[in-house]
Amino acid sequence: MTETPVCRRLVGRTAVITGAGSGIGLATARRLAAEGAHVVCADIDEKAGKAAAEEVGGLFVRADVTDPEQVEALFRTAHDTYGSIDVSFHNAGISPPDDDSILETGLEAWKRVQEVNLTSVYLCCKAVLPYMRRQGRGSIVNTASFVAVMGAATSQISYTASKGGVLAMSRELGVQFAREGIRVNALCPGPVNTPLLKELFAKDPERAARRLVHVPVGRFAEPEEIAAAVAFLASDDASFVNAAEFLVDGGIAGAYVTPL
Ligand SMILES: NC(=O)c1ccc[n+]([C@@H]2O[C@H](COP(=O)([O-])OP(=O)(O)OC[C@H]3O[C@@H](n4cnc5c(N)ncnc54)[C@H](O)[C@@H]3O)[C@@H](O)[C@H]2O)c1
Repeated sequence: MTETPVCRRLVGRTAVITGAGSGIGLATARRLAAEGAHVVCADIDEKAGKAAAEEVGGLFVRADVTDPEQVEALFRTAHDTYGSIDVSFHNAGISPPDDDSILETGLEAWKRVQEVNLTSVYLCCKAVLPYMRRQGRGSIVNTASFVAVMGAATSQISYTASKGGVLAMSRELGVQFAREGIRVNALCPGPVNTPLLKELFAKDPERAARRLVHVPVGRFAEPEEIAAAVAFLASDDASFVNAAEFLVDGGIAGAYVTPL
């Protein structure tokens, strides 16, 4: 767990966060606000999103990130309220149980995950880029995952494919808009200690052990550790970090044999 940040790298900046009501999004809302940003908390879950915005003194906008009109309205509201959009963290995503091995996953489950995890990132980038181009600056962080860079025998086929798409799209956008002062990076978190994961692994220790054996540091990430990476990518400290596959995975993707 990181301590309360002492740096104030985002004073006067405006950050939009999708999926800000829970997990990584919520931890990031707290971190970016602590660094001085105005935070716009977007979520489909009104109660959780409102609570997040209230806690960080920001603005809540209810938005389903799969809906083009709601996504447009989100960025319009953010810009109308604060006058700029300097950081956009496209983080909302799902990982439903009916997305499993390719042998079992049906087309409906496949499509739903693609919509929420990949199409949403396309829609958010498309909607925010015009604001950032007018400003001549901006930092976009799209949430992919470590499964975008390595295969798992415990498959969630549409999730993995969607995150691969987020990674490739982020790279391409980072290259295309680099000379306009806009950086686009793909954040690739390793497994994070969310309430859902804790509950699942408490019920099934073997399932947890099967995954933990691959993590060199021997534990999952805390959401605050992922939020710290987003704050870095959002800030000018990352001014030369662009089109990157930004792994925050405790060394999983670099590991062959892990310590006992
Ligand atoms: N938790 C992990 O281990 C892990 C690892 C790698 C990547 N990720 C990715 O990080 C992101 C956040 O994950 P998390 O674990 O914090 O998830 P979470 O479930 O705790 O939070 C996701 C938030 O997104 C919101 N959301 C879902 N669908 C939405 C929609 N259509 N429109 C708007 N908001 C919507 C939810 O209401 C929720 O508040 C996801 O993209 C996930 O794939 C998570």
